[in-house]
Amino acid sequence: MTRRVIIDTDPGLDDAIAILFALECGRFEVLGLTSVAGNIGIDRTTENAGRLLALTGRTDIPVAVGADRPLRRWGIDVIAIHGNDGLKGVALPPSLAAPLPDAVGWIAEKLAAEPAGSIDILALGPLTNIARLVAEHPEAAGNIGRLIVMGGTVHEPGNAGPRSEFNFASDPEAAAIVVRSGIGPTIVPLDVTRKVRASTDYVARLRGTPHGDAAADLLTAYLQDGRQSRPLHDPCVMLLALDSSLFRIETLRIAIDLGDDADAGAIIVRDGGMPAQIALGVDVDRALALLQTGFV
Ligand code: BDR
Ligand code: CA
Repeated sequence: MTRRVIIDTDPGLDDAIAILFALECGRFEVLGLTSVAGNIGIDRTTENAGRLLALTGRTDIPVAVGADRPLRRWGIDVIAIHGNDGLKGVALPPSLAAPLPDAVGWIAEKLAAEPAGSIDILALGPLTNIARLVAEHPEAAGNIGRLIVMGGTVHEPGNAGPRSEFNFASDPEAAAIVVRSGIGPTIVPLDVTRKVRASTDYVARLRGTPHGDAAADLLTAYLQDGRQSRPLHDPCVMLLALDSSLFRIETLRIAIDLGDDADAGAIIVRDGGMPAQIALGVDVDRALALLQTGFV
């Protein structure tokens, strides 16, 4: 059975792998890509989303432009990881269609027009668009099937601050709105994404098909700093959407740190927090094998 999804994203090299997988694995009906500023500015994340659709010939799928900055803060610069084009210079064909305006309004319309629970949202970037959806279109937001989010960390050190992860740290207020919304997100934190890694051997095994080669090119760029492997953060969201048995998921009560220091955006586990499903363990071999099936 295919899953109907909207992918909210800031591509980003690992976003690009996640999107390519979703488009190619044949198990998602991707209704649209909504862009958000994060790994790079909004013009570039929007264009990169369109380029991934052009690469796969999916002119039937729209891109809608989302938030150009966090709700209340400035973004975080990660040019060192994703390059000054968001895809570290990997050449993709230019997007074929102009993006739609107003990602939040577009998501709300889609959710309102379809049966409640029939559309999942896969959120791969800062949660600015989803928080605005919750605040501005609460009824539509109530129709979301599953909201699966890459973000945060529970036991692992952070990658933005000592306890904070990039997506949540980029827009802590948005993460807090989503956590408090009652939607009950499923969160895919660094605790699992750091374990599901693209090694140079794994990247070599993806080659041999046009989209496998594209994925390998993107991952090679991701590895260009000389590391032997890198975490496949955002693809883990797609993997959990397809097969949650790959992950050990616990319900924790959480809040989001809204302070002004380096741990803004950190997940705080506490009594009285809102319940969230959080992936804390992963079967790495099965996860990597499932991801590879998208590129054969
Ligand atoms: C997250 O931050 C971004 O740089 C990646 O695309 C991923 O969504 C990992 O912390
Ligand atoms: Ca991302």
